[in-house]
Amino acid sequence: MNILLTGGAGYIGSHTAIELIEAGHNAVIADNFVNSNPSIVKRMNEIIGQTIPFYNIDVADVAALDEVFCKHKIDAVIHFAGLKAVGESVQIPVKYYRNNIDSTLSLLEIMAKHNVHTFIFSSSATVYGNMNNIPYIENMHVGHCSSPYAWTKLFIEQILADVAAVNSDFSVVLLRYFNPVGAHPSGKIGENPNGIPNNLFPYISQVAIGKLAELKIFGNDYPTKDGTGVRDYIHVVDLAKGHVAALEYAEKHKGVEAINLGTGTGYSVLDIVKTFEQTNNIKIPYQIVSRRAGDIAEYYADVSKALLLLNWKAKKTLADMCRDTWRWQTQNPDGYEK
Ligand code: NAD
Ligand code: UD1
Repeated sequence: MNILLTGGAGYIGSHTAIELIEAGHNAVIADNFVNSNPSIVKRMNEIIGQTIPFYNIDVADVAALDEVFCKHKIDAVIHFAGLKAVGESVQIPVKYYRNNIDSTLSLLEIMAKHNVHTFIFSSSATVYGNMNNIPYIENMHVGHCSSPYAWTKLFIEQILADVAAVNSDFSVVLLRYFNPVGAHPSGKIGENPNGIPNNLFPYISQVAIGKLAELKIFGNDYPTKDGTGVRDYIHVVDLAKGHVAALEYAEKHKGVEAINLGTGTGYSVLDIVKTFEQTNNIKIPYQIVSRRAGDIAEYYADVSKALLLLNWKAKKTLADMCRDTWRWQTQNPDGYEK
């Protein structure tokens, strides 16, 4: 199949393009580098030993998108393109709604024009909001979102469901990612946050390499096994393989399915620190500070639907996640060259 990956130069899209090609598909990438840079594409080409067709366009630009669909016979789209900084979305909500929703609408218009009916969407566990019990399961009520970013995901899920409701040819898979971490085992591509990282794994690896002095653990008084926050961390390569499985499922089925991509296991912040230290033989200095506003104590996925429908489950361990994160960090102490 010929797959268009919007946002395919980003963290998850780049890993997914490689897994798709390794599984025998063709990838075409559209990305405007708003949160990535051209050297990623060069490195992907090196890993895969071929040149992936690439278009530097804003996916919201209907005319530019139309040209891509005219040049390539696209069979399916995986829509990664989106702004994802939760805190920033609270500060500049209009930018987030404009970018994330407009890009989706443009894509839907051009897909309709070119008779493309298969749509895989990068959604997030954040759509479960802060009122649900754990584990999160796909048929739970969604909503009570904590940021404009999260609402963009939920609104886009609704838009896609509305489109599928009146297009019986349409096949949509809403992939609800839990916490993607780790990097490609080659050490050539990985997560490259701008400035001081907000998320735990990139923060720990920058402490490990000496760029940051110590980890601040946000609270040790949660009702969890050791008082620190618990999450379902999933290796980005497992997540990427989940997209290949979702695509193959979507080719054979119509309608809309929301599917969790996680491991089903929750680990605490202290579990991560300990495993990172043991796996990489390095010390992570930390101090406990107060809770971060908006954080939830504990969540992880029910992963039975992914196994049932996609015949997919995550295989990599927490040690794999820590090892690959550290390899990426040590091989690329300053991230990608600009
Ligand atoms: P990322 O920022 O690394 O990748 C997103 C890519 O989209 C970037 O390369 C960016 O340049 C591009 N992009 C954004 N807007 C665009 C536009 N209008 N036109 C063209 N390109 C555009 O993020 P990621 O971590 O790879 O996430 C991919 C998707 O998965 C996003 O939609 C994100 O919201 C979602 N998601 C990510 C996580 C996570 O923890 N990383 C969790 C849940 C969901
Ligand atoms: C964050 C996003 C969420 C997104 C997810 C993807 C917020 C509020 N939520 O969630 O929308 O889907 O990333 O990966 O930003 N922690 C520390 N110290 C740190 C950083 C984190 O103790 O310096 C703790 C947090 O309190 C949390 C855990 O580590 O318990 C994981 O944090 P993080 O990596 O930021 O992910 P989430 O909060 O789950």
